[in-house]
Amino acid sequence: MIIFKKAADIHNFLATKIKENQSIGFVPTMGALHEGHISLIYKSKAANSLTVCSIFVNPTQFNNPLDFEKYPITIESDIAMLEEAGCDLLFLPSTDEIYPKDFIKINYELGHLETILEGKYRPGHFQGVCMVVERLLRIITCNILYLGQKDYQQCMVIEKMISLRNMNVQLVIAPTIREVDGLAMSSRNRRLSKEERQNAIVIFNSLMNMKSKITNNSIEEIITEANKMISEKGFEVDYVELVDCQLNPLEKTNHKNGIVALIASSINNIRLIDNMTLINPVK
Ligand code: PAJ
Repeated sequence: MIIFKKAADIHNFLATKIKENQSIGFVPTMGALHEGHISLIYKSKAANSLTVCSIFVNPTQFNNPLDFEKYPITIESDIAMLEEAGCDLLFLPSTDEIYPKDFIKINYELGHLETILEGKYRPGHFQGVCMVVERLLRIITCNILYLGQKDYQQCMVIEKMISLRNMNVQLVIAPTIREVDGLAMSSRNRRLSKEERQNAIVIFNSLMNMKSKITNNSIEEIITEANKMISEKGFEVDYVELVDCQLNPLEKTNHKNGIVALIASSINNIRLIDNMTLINPVK
């Protein structure tokens, strides 16, 4: 794997590969890699001749400074995992490379995507995500961008940013990879104590419970039950919400746009999010 630290160097390297008609897949990350991230590398490798990963803990998307400070950095094991997975290129920039002095900040018109769910609890977060992903995509010219469904709203936001900025890149959303007991893999899981880790299974269990009850119970009933299940395990619930697959409010009369359940809850300042498609949209 070739490691690049300078934006210009990786950009120029990729320009020669594009001239050779190579297809390029890109997996942006903030490091502290786990099997969820690596599943995206495998997806990219299966469909492209070159796979690029980036590791950059983006300060502009952390609305909580404590969360930024505590973000785990495990660069050596990250590199080993990427090597093992057969990733071709790693972009490992400094903050100055991503945000040079002449960097121009813009405002993205994200509409309701920015004010609901994560947007409501993390003001400014999605502006920061768009800022860094657009900058990364300008540096790393690629054919396909790979994102995980684990961050469902982030996928919708990035899809919107790509269309707002007329960027020529295909988006592939890959399924959430889970631990054997169902907990969605996350870099933040390693901050949980043994007991918190055990209790965290309740997030997955409540999603599964909602899935099993969606056809026979009312939306209000299943939301109330999920809230109760999660609180009983000592987690503070930010939200349990059911929306359609574009994150719009549910239509009362039909569910042809599908139903997705999204949960955010925290324990001891460790905030975990997860989601599950309860009903697929009608194609
Ligand atoms: P990060 O949290 O490191 O995640 C990088 C990518 O891995 C995202 O697309 C995320 O959805 C995906 N991912 C995380 N956990 C996953 C899991 N259990 N299964 C499948 N995919 C998973 O998301 C970010 O970084 C940043 O916001 C970023 C897009 C890199 C911009 O800074």
